[in-house]
Amino acid sequence: MKLLITGASGLLGINLAMEAMREHEVVGVDRGKLRSAPFQVFPVDLPNRTALSSVLDATSPDWLVNCAALANLEKCEKDPEQAKALNVDLPAELATACAERHIHFVHISTDAVFDGEKKGAYTEDDLPNPQGVYSQTKLDGESATFSVNAESIVARVNMFGWSLTNQRSLGEFFVNNLSGGKHVNGFTDVIFCPMLVNITARLLLEMLKKNLSGLYHVVGAQAMSKYQFGVEVARTFGLSENLISPKSVLSSELTAKRSPNLWLSTHKLSTDLGREIPSFSTGLIEFYTQFQQGYPQKIRGYQH
Ligand SMILES: NC(=O)c1ccc[n+]([C@@H]2O[C@H](COP(=O)([O-])OP(=O)(O)OC[C@H]3O[C@@H](n4cnc5c(N)ncnc54)[C@H](OP(=O)(O)O)[C@@H]3O)[C@@H](O)[C@H]2O)c1
Repeated sequence: MKLLITGASGLLGINLAMEAMREHEVVGVDRGKLRSAPFQVFPVDLPNRTALSSVLDATSPDWLVNCAALANLEKCEKDPEQAKALNVDLPAELATACAERHIHFVHISTDAVFDGEKKGAYTEDDLPNPQGVYSQTKLDGESATFSVNAESIVARVNMFGWSLTNQRSLGEFFVNNLSGGKHVNGFTDVIFCPMLVNITARLLLEMLKKNLSGLYHVVGAQAMSKYQFGVEVARTFGLSENLISPKSVLSSELTAKRSPNLWLSTHKLSTDLGREIPSFSTGLIEFYTQFQQGYPQKIRGYQH
């Protein structure tokens, strides 16, 4: 199959490309960062829709996964127009273009569409209640996608892994700071379901192969606090967990509101795939193995 990835330089984009290349032909769209990637890359500033249409016509992919987004919560609060352009208008246009060309479209959304007040796991049937510009635009992007392309997959994710900037994921945050002997805070009152981005990528490819459509929670099978996540990372990498101070998110300087409980059920996904979702520890061990094998340096090298 031929897979087109928009946002190919992002945390999910580059790791999805690496996973998909094992079996499929990969074409990426980025803003010019990926200078020596081992797959074809078209530099397009995504507001340029004409250029994007030309890429679709020139490449004729079977699948398109939209990993492009304004995914920084604080930047979304500061620039709601740009957040709407990337998180709502772009997926709507991509979903339309894919429907017209019979390309199976996947749009990536977020666990943060929920307010986090539920006592238990959120299913796909639970009512979202976004708490800020980022999560509101992500929810609007879901509806905009389905309204023009009902065959799409919309995947709500939460991921950690290695990125081109070395700063994009919480996993990198803990490894970088703890290996430099720096003290950091770990929030004890923010619960989430982190999944190694490479596992997310493999699941997305499996969903496409199975020709699924609709809304799915594609997150880790285990819910934990951000503090607990940091401790698990420290233990796996042989770093000092004592450098992580358990803190409440309310004591932080973050301006965008965080939902306290983002425990999402993966029951629908595992039922439709007919298998268990890999455990958190499986992903964490792979994260460490990638580190030992020089994977972070390898993908960062694609920028030069
Ligand atoms: N990371 C997580 O844990 C998490 C959690 C929930 C949901 N998500 C969702 O998952 C998806 C992927 O997230 P991510 O963590 O991979 O995000 P990311 O690392 O920030 O990547 C975003 C991608 O979008 C590109 N982009 C942004 N503005 C652009 C523009 N104007 N023109 C062209 N490209 C542009 C970025 O290009 P540059 O590299 O040039 O900036 C990058 O390739 C997003 O939809 C996000 O909302 C992520």
